[in-house]
Amino acid sequence: MTQTEQKELVAATAIDTLIKNKKIFSGMKIGLGTGSTAVPAVKHLAKRIADGTLKDIKAVVTSFGTQNLCEELEIPVYSMNDKIIGGHLDLAIDGADEVDPDNNVIKGGGAALLREKIVAYNAEQFVIVADSTKIVDSLGTKFRLPVEIIGEARVPVTKALEALGAECVLREGVKKCGPVITDNGNQILDILWKEPVNPCMMEDKINSIVGVVEVGFFTKNKPIVFTMNSDCNVIQR
Ligand code: A5P
Repeated sequence: MTQTEQKELVAATAIDTLIKNKKIFSGMKIGLGTGSTAVPAVKHLAKRIADGTLKDIKAVVTSFGTQNLCEELEIPVYSMNDKIIGGHLDLAIDGADEVDPDNNVIKGGGAALLREKIVAYNAEQFVIVADSTKIVDSLGTKFRLPVEIIGEARVPVTKALEALGAECVLREGVKKCGPVITDNGNQILDILWKEPVNPCMMEDKINSIVGVVEVGFFTKNKPIVFTMNSDCNVIQR
C-alpha cells in the first residue's frame, strides 16, 4: 500500500470509527487540521454530512488551505471566537509529522502549527491520523521540529535554541524568495537534535523563549492515534 493510500484509509476509518463510537455526532464543534492526511479526513467528514449521517457540524479550521477545502465541500466554518463556538471544541482531528510511543506528537510540517495547537489544546478530544511512517521511537532527531517565530527575533531565538542543543534552519519558500511566511505572518525555524529530548519539558522551555510564537511539540492534550500496523490493519492507540 502506498503512503497516500494509507493516509486515505486511516483517515476514512478514523472518521467512521469515531462516528460509530459516538465520539463524532451531529451538532458537534470540530477542529479541522491541515496537511495531506487531514485532507482525506475532512473529505470523509463531508461525505458523512452529505449522506445525512451527521447534521449541523460546526468546523473551526487551522489554515487557509483547510478553509478553502471546507468552502469547496460546504462544511460551515466558524472562528474560535464566535459565540456559537465559545473558544471550546468537542473534538479536533489532524495529521502529524511524528508520533512517539506516549502519543506525543510533532506537527507543523505544513507551517500550520499555531492554529493547529489552538484547536488541539482547546478540544475535549484530540485525534491524530497518521500513516505508519510517522510512528517513531523518539521525536525530533530525524524530522525537524518546526518553531514559529517572530521574524524580527530570528537571531536571538536561534541562539537560545542552539543553547538548548538544537541545530536551526530557517524554512525557505518554494516559488517564493526568502523565508516561508505562515498564515499568521510569522517565520519558521526547523530544528534538529542529535539526541532525543523530553518533548513535554522542551515544549515549555521553547515556548518560554521571547520571540517564539509556538513550537511544534504537542504533548499536553494526549490524542487518540489512528495508524496502520505491518499487516495493513488500521489500529487505534
Ligand atoms: C501542518 O502544519 C502539519 O502539522 C501537518 O498536520 C503535518 O505536517 C502532517 O502533514 P501530512 O499529513 O501532510 O504528512
